[in-house]
Amino acid sequence: MVEKIIRAKEILEKYGQEHLLKFYSELSDEKKSKLLDDILTIDFKQLQELYESTKTKQNYENGKIEPIAYKSKENLTKEELNKYTAIGEEAIRKGKLAVVTMAGGQGTRLGHSGPKGTYDIGLASHKSIFEILCDNFKEAQEKYQVTIPWYLMTSEENNDDTIAFFEQNNYFGYPKEAVKFFKQGTLPMIDTNGKVLLNEEKMIKQAADGHGGVFEAIRKNGIIYDMSQKGIEWVFISGVDNVLVKPIDAVLTGLATDEGMLMAAKSIVKAGPDEKVGVFCKKDGKPYVVEYIDISEEMANQRNENGELVYGESHILCNQFNIKILEKLASNKLPYHVAFKKASYINENGEIVKPEQPNAYKFESFLFDAFSLLPDIAILRVKREEEFAPVKNATGVDSAESARELYNKFHNL
Ligand code: UD1
Repeated sequence: MVEKIIRAKEILEKYGQEHLLKFYSELSDEKKSKLLDDILTIDFKQLQELYESTKTKQNYENGKIEPIAYKSKENLTKEELNKYTAIGEEAIRKGKLAVVTMAGGQGTRLGHSGPKGTYDIGLASHKSIFEILCDNFKEAQEKYQVTIPWYLMTSEENNDDTIAFFEQNNYFGYPKEAVKFFKQGTLPMIDTNGKVLLNEEKMIKQAADGHGGVFEAIRKNGIIYDMSQKGIEWVFISGVDNVLVKPIDAVLTGLATDEGMLMAAKSIVKAGPDEKVGVFCKKDGKPYVVEYIDISEEMANQRNENGELVYGESHILCNQFNIKILEKLASNKLPYHVAFKKASYINENGEIVKPEQPNAYKFESFLFDAFSLLPDIAILRVKREEEFAPVKNATGVDSAESARELYNKFHNL
């Protein structure tokens, strides 16, 4: 322990973060040990660089931006559709598909205190989002006579609650052995002077590192290994918040296989220039997504001769990867995007501060920043009313209400 303290002090001094040990003597032995371990494992050099990066505006649009090619499911010829379906169904039947649901986010915008997947969107059945997602697996089990492995990415904050919810609900009738949970990584939050914040427990204030952390998390937690042991070839990765997600899709799997791609993504037509979705494009010849907060007015509004948005292929966080590329993506460092957030913390007098205004930087990597590591990807444009009903906000656009309506309409309820 003494050695650890000495080492921790050296590190903190080097990076001007000595305040992190200010309340050390007040902590329990267990917390003392955890705090020291955190200090010894945090990459303070990287944090310093991230802090420096907050001072300059990041430009995500530099480089040559062009539209990206896609295939519309609706316009596939009968032969194409049959071919992709046959290839995909064979892979699914042989147990070559697995699904990862990224459920590390808290439902903050929803105003829900638990993990987002536990939310009841108000269907007559009162199914939670997790149960709605699980229905896809049960249907596939019947249709293809195969139990598809389901991996759920949780975060430090919601892992225990998520597992408890699955236990309480008896895994919604899906085989428990087919469901695995793993935690995503975290990064400390820093204030506007680059100082790492302490949380209410006088420990380092950590936040989920964004869904781009999924690649590293599946490697670190042995998920890629587990998948390869099971003979998995394709891994569908999506968020938790789309109640019309179709994770087990023979056409998508068949298309990627037929085109010899290591990744396939679903898109929908963007509803209008202001819709809060990222859009697919090519940047310097590589697949890329320009996020809605980063897109310029001009790019968002550009239309072709038919009046359609030139950058109208929306990214709906429904992406499928060949297992061969996952290791590579896991060993690559993705850039971090900065968010300025309200974060409560303990000040130098040991008092809790609950700011009214944003006061802290949070760093997140985005899964889609990995796309440019691939030479090309297959994009399948699907119908919004069949595959996209996100639950993001408490009311209005992309709310439980709008998702419920879309869900009921699709399922004829
Ligand atoms: C996201 C996409 C956007 C896309 C839109 C479609 C980002 C940054 N943008 O926007 O391109 O068009 O969805 O609905 O994702 N998550 C984690 N861990 C994290 C952060 C997020 O598991 O650390 C999960 C969330 O639980 C959620 C999903 O990722 O299921 C999306 O995250 P969110 O932050 O809600 O993204 P959006 O802003 O809605």
